[in-house]
Amino acid sequence: MTERLTSDREGIARAAGLLATGHCVAFPTETVYGLGADATSDRAVAAIFAAKDRPRFNPLIVHLPDPEAVAALCRMPETAERLAAAFWPGALTLVLPLRAGAGVSPLVTAGLDTLAVRVPAHGVARDLLRAAGRPVAAPSANPSGRLSPTTAAHVLAGLDGRIAAVLDGGPCGVGVESTIVGFDPEPVLLRPGGLPREALEACLGAPLSEGAPGGPVSAPGQLASHYAPRGSLRMGATAAREGEVLVGFAAVAGEVSLSPAGDLVEAAAALFPVLHRLDAAGVARIAVAPIPETGLGLAINDRLRRAAAPRS
Ligand code: TXA
Ligand code: MG
Repeated sequence: MTERLTSDREGIARAAGLLATGHCVAFPTETVYGLGADATSDRAVAAIFAAKDRPRFNPLIVHLPDPEAVAALCRMPETAERLAAAFWPGALTLVLPLRAGAGVSPLVTAGLDTLAVRVPAHGVARDLLRAAGRPVAAPSANPSGRLSPTTAAHVLAGLDGRIAAVLDGGPCGVGVESTIVGFDPEPVLLRPGGLPREALEACLGAPLSEGAPGGPVSAPGQLASHYAPRGSLRMGATAAREGEVLVGFAAVAGEVSLSPAGDLVEAAAALFPVLHRLDAAGVARIAVAPIPETGLGLAINDRLRRAAAPRS
């Protein structure tokens, strides 16, 4: 049985207590729901991998309540400091050199000498992280390879009975995962996400290079097939073909639309809810209208490309 907790003081205290005793708890962030566990406990972190059926080589993001807590675990290059000052709390994950003796389970990093860290902005996440008083490892709260959850109902649809609890904080505002930046030592975009690339580049005053797939970091969020609905998915569609349900955007009107107004922020928030709904309705063939490759369109197209990729 998975407990469904309300995001009041009592629910947050219960969730923090479960984390402190080694259990997995799903919680809201402004991007997607995370599946949290005590990052300092091998057993607790192993339970995340088991619940999601996640490959052990795929490292996790550690969530912390403030940048000071990050500095205690990681070294921060000057550019990282600048990005953290500009965008934390928020939809940004930084991959940083892990300090020796930081106490994070090696399962979290999959043995790498870097740690992915994020300070989320969601009020419930921040309250939970403060109450937990320990670093919380959390991948998205979905079975590995499937659609990410942006509501407590999505979490339960994928993981009911496999995790101790879900803290219900309503729908996620951003709707796509955080943007991940590594340092090589220059900043490198490892995954487009809820913080637009343009905002990062404006802060850095320079264009951001992209992590080469199969480079030093192969983030399985970068695996070809990921974020996948059960049905097939075709991108760049301006009309439905035989048997397809068309998901519209802007002038392309579908049976549903990510944003009739062509607003990419609205479309990002609608992306996973719409795909979850089509999945639940058993739609076998999904077509999606063209999405511009700017702002949050980068993250939307990235998720769509992986959803469209052949399944292994
Ligand atoms: O918005 C988000 O980022 C959500 C919420 C819950 O914070 N989390 C999330 O986690 O999307 P997950 O596990 O689904 O994606 C984390 C990505 C993976 O692709 C993983 O490979 C990469 O981060 N990652 C983690 N640690 C890394 C490291 N040390 N080096 C490179 N990539 C890393
Ligand atoms: Mg994920």
